[in-house]
Amino acid sequence: MQLKAILIGNSDGIGLAMTKRLLTLGWNVIGVSRSEFPITDSAYDHHIADVRDDNYPEILAELLQRGPVDLCMYFAGIGELLDPLDMSAEAGIFDVNLTGMVKTTAAVIPGMVKRGRGHFVGISSLADELLSAEAPSYHASKAGFSNYLGGLALALKPKGVSVTNVRFGFVDTKMAKGDMKPFMMSVEKATDHLEYCLRKKPVCYTVPRVMIPLIKFRKLMMKLGAK
Ligand SMILES: NC(=O)c1ccc[n+]([C@@H]2O[C@H](COP(=O)([O-])OP(=O)(O)OC[C@H]3O[C@@H](n4cnc5c(N)ncnc54)[C@H](OP(=O)(O)O)[C@@H]3O)[C@@H](O)[C@H]2O)c1
Repeated sequence: MQLKAILIGNSDGIGLAMTKRLLTLGWNVIGVSRSEFPITDSAYDHHIADVRDDNYPEILAELLQRGPVDLCMYFAGIGELLDPLDMSAEAGIFDVNLTGMVKTTAAVIPGMVKRGRGHFVGISSLADELLSAEAPSYHASKAGFSNYLGGLALALKPKGVSVTNVRFGFVDTKMAKGDMKPFMMSVEKATDHLEYCLRKKPVCYTVPRVMIPLIKFRKLMMKLGAK
């Protein structure tokens, strides 16, 4: 039987690479993003939508009515530097990175619970445990993202539904801005890690692991008041 996935925010970067990987593995894939998908494949169906739009939940419901999905992956994400003189973009970052994901779970999870199986994978970041003066909305939205998926994983495990929160360090896409990108991994490597997560279904998956002590050290320095 052909497995079916829905990927949100897959027109570029990690989502695009993962879509190609799933198609190579023989999955049937539905994708959702604001832009067109750059490749055509008979097992792929793309839908233009913005997760911030009021009708996003209805669009998802309509797509899910066409048949149940075994897997949902949420990639949609944006990040902007804080401009304290114009903070109008701040709420929009939460809308895409956090609220869009919560709306996606609300559309997808009940069907999985009814069937007693399914896997939700959200792409978070190691930024989820750091305070940031440069991009506080990105970091805070990822903190909420990781916390929500951790709780959801606990709630859904007894129902047969798996939830995986993937916490990446730097991945080589247009999202990875800035000069300092220690231990940045290729999109292909990130996709290998995601494929591993589909097989093993961990609740939380942090990579690269070498970043973990660095993040802990940075947190400690922040606590001690050093920048
Ligand atoms: N790259 C990194 O270093 C890194 C590290 C840790 C975590 N992450 C996370 O990984 C995820 C994917 O990031 P990426 O690096 O692959 O970034 P990317 O190349 O910029 O891709 C982001 C994707 O999100 C979609 N998207 C953005 N806003 C959307 C909206 N309003 N509605 C629907 N889709 C939307 C974009 O498609 P459209 O523009 O076509 O809508 C695009 O396909 C993000 O959640 C990011 O926070 C990335």
